[in-house]
Amino acid sequence: MKVVSTVNELQYLLKELNLSPVGFVPTMGALHEGHMSLVVNGIQRCPIVVVSIFVNPTQFNDKNDLRNYPSTPEADLGLLQKIMREKDIVFIPTVQEIYPEEDKRKFLFENLDNVMEALHRPGHFNGVAQVVTRLFDIVKPDIAVFGMKDFQQLAIVKALVKQTGNKVKIITSPIIRENDGLAMSSRNRLLEPEIRKHVPVIYKTISAAAEMINDNDISKIKSFVSDRINKEPGLKLEYFEIVDDIELIPLRKKSEMKRDRHYVGCIAVTAGNIRLIDNIEIGLV
Ligand code: PAJ
Repeated sequence: MKVVSTVNELQYLLKELNLSPVGFVPTMGALHEGHMSLVVNGIQRCPIVVVSIFVNPTQFNDKNDLRNYPSTPEADLGLLQKIMREKDIVFIPTVQEIYPEEDKRKFLFENLDNVMEALHRPGHFNGVAQVVTRLFDIVKPDIAVFGMKDFQQLAIVKALVKQTGNKVKIITSPIIRENDGLAMSSRNRLLEPEIRKHVPVIYKTISAAAEMINDNDISKIKSFVSDRINKEPGLKLEYFEIVDDIELIPLRKKSEMKRDRHYVGCIAVTAGNIRLIDNIEIGLV
């Protein structure tokens, strides 16, 4: 694989290789098997894959979170080396390279940017939209792979592609979990060992919530989730919502469920001082 840090080098290589379709996997590094599954997905579909590693400052509403965000560049390259082919490219730009000038663009996503993560992380998705459009302009991918783990981000990216008329095809990859069910995340390595013991309850609880849907009201399921999470030492529920997969409108009653939509239970929990998110498909049978 090749490692480049400038837009010029990247575009030069892509032009020289002249392969299509071009696959793209944007990441913020501190890579784990979840990221690797996205890269494998891209490799299976495309003769050339670009993986970007860029901790995008504009999507961090909390400057402490940005400062503490893990960075493991050598380990990242080691992992990628194992699966990427000779022609594949790792793009590790500086902030200056991505934002030669301050990005003042404002994106509008209506309800998508008005629920769940958006309420707890104001400005976060505007920053994601800034970097994703910028990276798409640079890489010009035919296919881009995103993880289901960041479910709201995925909905936002799909809406963004529609809004901007970009021809890129968005592919979704399933959530990769640790053996105890915890969704893999770069932030997991920031969890204190004492707290780490308790976080598998997050997936256990949303799995139980998914089972409850046939026989219980939404309000009953929500209070089950909040009681179960809040009674676990060190954990605090930020939100649990069951939303449809297109507009992300939170369900209040089961009768609002439409046959032609998929529903997903989305959860955010603070574990010690680390925020974790997860989700699970919820369907009536
Ligand atoms: P990051 O958190 O590094 O995630 C990069 C991609 O990996 C995202 O599409 C995310 O959904 C996916 N991912 C993370 N953990 C996963 C898991 N356990 N299973 C499957 N996929 C997983 O998301 C971002 O970076 C940034 O917001 C980015 C899109 C790169 C823009 O800066």
